Order: sequence, then structure tokens, then C-alpha cells
Amino acid sequence: MSVTVPSGMLDDQGVNSLASSVRDCSHYPGMRAKRISGKHIDLREVEVTDAEYILSLRLDPRHARYLSPTSSDAQSQRDWILKYQRRFDQAYFVAESRESIPRPCGTVRLYDPVGNSFSWGSWLLGDNAPSFAAIESALIVYDYGFNVLGFSASHFEVLRENMKVCAFHERFGARQVGEDTRLKYYNLTREDYIRLRTKYARYALEKIAIVL
Ligand SMILES: CC(C)(COP(=O)(O)OP(=O)(O)OC[C@H]1O[C@@H](n2cnc3c(N)ncnc32)[C@H](O)[C@@H]1OP(=O)(O)O)[C@@H](O)C(=O)NCCC(=O)NCCS
Repeated sequence: MSVTVPSGMLDDQGVNSLASSVRDCSHYPGMRAKRISGKHIDLREVEVTDAEYILSLRLDPRHARYLSPTSSDAQSQRDWILKYQRRFDQAYFVAESRESIPRPCGTVRLYDPVGNSFSWGSWLLGDNAPSFAAIESALIVYDYGFNVLGFSASHFEVLRENMKVCAFHERFGARQVGEDTRLKYYNLTREDYIRLRTKYARYALEKIAIVL
């Protein structure tokens, strides 16, 4: 099933009705989607054959220090993806650049639905990612989480020492709602996002196309 969703411009009623019609679709697999198309990058649902690519990103020492530990064993990564494919409370994507070869340029994952809030992470971009891929991928995640899945907030945490990523979220407009010795906790509501979406409109399509 394919749907085209106006992004960032829906009122409460529009979001609720869109989310419930998408959820009512019998093919709709929980939080998952096969492909979400942004302006220059697509988020394509992870496949078992992505295991080596994901490992190459996650084992890169420049990224690994800020991520939960990853086994270097490709079979473990394949098993992880197979396990993912049996559950519906997350959506794990490989970012693909439509303008570069090779196309895979990163990963991102939506997970931990708690009430009306979702979390996101496993966010990594490779050296071949276009410079706008960070903002574009964040916009796609929020468009999808708020406008398609119908969540009203997003919660996520970042290691305090990952200052570049903390700065990204703060600059983007996330609110810091807590911290401890290790982590900073952030929140971004759909109302915040609808306002921010206008500011970042040039990084996104007016409508996002989704294959469920
Ligand atoms: C997290 C990650 C994907 C973010 O991507 P990134 O490319 O480093 O993000 P940046 O903060 O450099 O932003 C990319 C560009 O957008 C710009 N930008 C960022 N936020 C912006 C904003 N709010 N408005 C306008 N421009 C913005 C930056 O200036 C930068 O531009 P440049 O390429 O011209 O310098 C990447 O740093 C990464 O893979 N990190 C390692 C893994 C990791 O720590 N993941 C997070 C775990 S929580």
C-alpha cells in the first residue's frame, strides 16, 4: 500500500484521522514501513542483506563510542534483523541517498512507543551522506512519527559526551527535559514540530510518500 501524506501541516483532526486510517489498513505493520521518501534521501526498511553495511557503520570507531556495543559478528547482526522482522514496535531504516553511489548512507530507527510518545535513535550517517542528510532524516522521522503514526510527542536521550548530537537536537528545537551523569533527555512535541517544520520546509518535500 502506498500513501502520500501532507507533512507538517495537519491539524489535530487531520492527524488523528490519517493515523487511524493508516492503522486500520490490514497491511499496516505496527510502526513499520517499507519505504519513506524524503527530498533527497529515502528511508528504506532494513533487510537481512544490510547486515554487513550496518556493521561497517557501527564498528567505525568514529561512531562506535556513542552507540550501544555491537558484536562484530555478521551472523549476530543478521539474527538481530531477523528478530526485528518478527516484531512491530519499531521501524528500522537504512537511509539511501538518491544522488550517490553506493546509495546506503546511514541508519535510523523509531522505537519504544510509550503511550502517545515514540523514541528514535540508531542514527548514523556514513561519509557518503549528503550534508543535508542529518536534517532531512530527522524531518522524515518526525513527519512519519507525528503525521503518519499519530504520536503526539517524541522522547529520546543522547550521551552527554556526544556533544555534536546534543547540539544538533538543541539547535533543531528539542527541549532538554532531564539529565544524569551519562545522558541528556530530550522531548519534542507534535505542536513544537508543526511550528519547526515551517522553518525547515526547504529540507523536506511538501508531501512524503510512504510504502507500507
Ligand atoms: C548523528 C549524526 C547522524 C548527525 O549527522 P551529522 O551530519 O553529524 O549532523 P550535523 O550536526 O553535522 O548536521 C549536518 C549539517 O546540517 C547543519 N545543521 C544541523 N542542524 C541544523 C539546523 N537546525 N539548522 C540548519 N542547519 C543545521 C549542520 O551545520 C551541518 O551542515 P554542514 O554539513 O554544512 O556542516 C552523525 O553525527 C553520526 O553518524 N554520528 C555518530 C553516531 C551517533 O552519535 N549517533 C547518535 C546516537 S544518539
